[in-house]
Amino acid sequence: MSEVAVTGEREALRTNMAALRGTQILLRRTSLSCRLIPRRNRVKTKWAATFPSFPATSLALQNFDMSYGEQLGALWPSARISMLCEQKYGALLNNFSETTGQVSDLQMKGAQDFVLCGISTPGSVPRSDRAEADQAEDVLKFSPGIQCFVFPKSDTSRFRPARPDSSGVLGYYLLDAASILPVLALDVQEGHSVLDLCAAPGGKTLALLQTHAIKKLTVNDLSDSRLKRLRRMLQDYIPREIWSENRVDITSCDGRTWGEMGRSTFDRVLVDVPCTTDRHSVLEEENNIFKRSRTKERQRLPLLQTQLLVAGMEAARPGGVVVYSTCTLSQLQNECVVEQALRVAQEELDIGVQVEDVGPLSHIFSTTFCFAPDRRLGALVVPHLTANFGPTYFCKLQRVH
Ligand SMILES: C[S@@+](CC[C@H](N)C(=O)[O-])C[C@H]1O[C@@H](n2cnc3c(N)ncnc32)[C@H](O)[C@@H]1O
Repeated sequence: MSEVAVTGEREALRTNMAALRGTQILLRRTSLSCRLIPRRNRVKTKWAATFPSFPATSLALQNFDMSYGEQLGALWPSARISMLCEQKYGALLNNFSETTGQVSDLQMKGAQDFVLCGISTPGSVPRSDRAEADQAEDVLKFSPGIQCFVFPKSDTSRFRPARPDSSGVLGYYLLDAASILPVLALDVQEGHSVLDLCAAPGGKTLALLQTHAIKKLTVNDLSDSRLKRLRRMLQDYIPREIWSENRVDITSCDGRTWGEMGRSTFDRVLVDVPCTTDRHSVLEEENNIFKRSRTKERQRLPLLQTQLLVAGMEAARPGGVVVYSTCTLSQLQNECVVEQALRVAQEELDIGVQVEDVGPLSHIFSTTFCFAPDRRLGALVVPHLTANFGPTYFCKLQRVH
């Protein structure tokens, strides 16, 4: 294990020890006061109120150490320290703005479009076996028109905030570059109608619009405040005539009910569900799902995710594609949700869905991202100090009937 990783482990251990010491002091005080105060006058300790409250970030780390240590094996120590360090961003180029100056600016600073690099790198399609390679080229279909600039591996330079062009439209959007992968996997083509079921604050919506191929985009999110952020983002990045021309429809529904409202309608459905947002959970106390008050909400996540994915499958037309994505390393919220949703769709709704191979797609982008090996369903980007993107999980599904 690297020295940095060991320091991180020690840091976490120190936090846990401090919390443990707090508990011991409390226990000692309790037993001392028990001996001094006559039994009839003793006040029962209210455990829930006096128990030292662990920071939610420590609870998240403890939880991840237990589950991901086993799940990811040797990959976990490096993923752990990477999530505790500064993450790397990508600059999603906004092709609704004047891009020529922006592109040369980004290139001069040393950033490169990872999508173009992946496609044009010789040997980017697996060549071990000719038949396998032919098949891979055939399967390698992804959404066009998306350009996302990143600094090379191990280069930790940062992007400057985007500047507006002469018409006031911003030139790029900063986001975790791995979050573009589900949009690429969705394979949006000319004239498609697309549903973005859990869309706010809108990074993936903006990437979808970069394809210029969508006839009708429906953008949905349950949260009004987050939809407000999405609207603001659209105002900053998309010329008004594009998103007010009935081409972008913004709705605020519970995504779980979407199947009943618009069954078998969309060519493409993106289901980017709420999850434990692992990176946020180990770094930020605010809005942390590992707070004790949110335990039930956290435990219910796999059920909510399954319901949202099933609704997405219902909303897709037969032959249509659904991509499920999260920003967690949790198998319970990734592969297990996909398996459960496939079962529910088949057994309860008579909807047949098959899992598509995203291996070739991850292979061509493996020079930019660190992928977990041997995934049975979908692909998982694991944070790494030399490529500190993710976590991002995505699984591509096709509705067959
Ligand atoms: C991971 S975030 C989506 C991020 C977004 N796709 C992006 O790229 O910016 C998950 C979103 O799901 C929304 N959400 C939670 N429960 C929902 C539900 N039942 N129906 C629809 N959206 C829901 C949350 O408000 C949150 O904005």
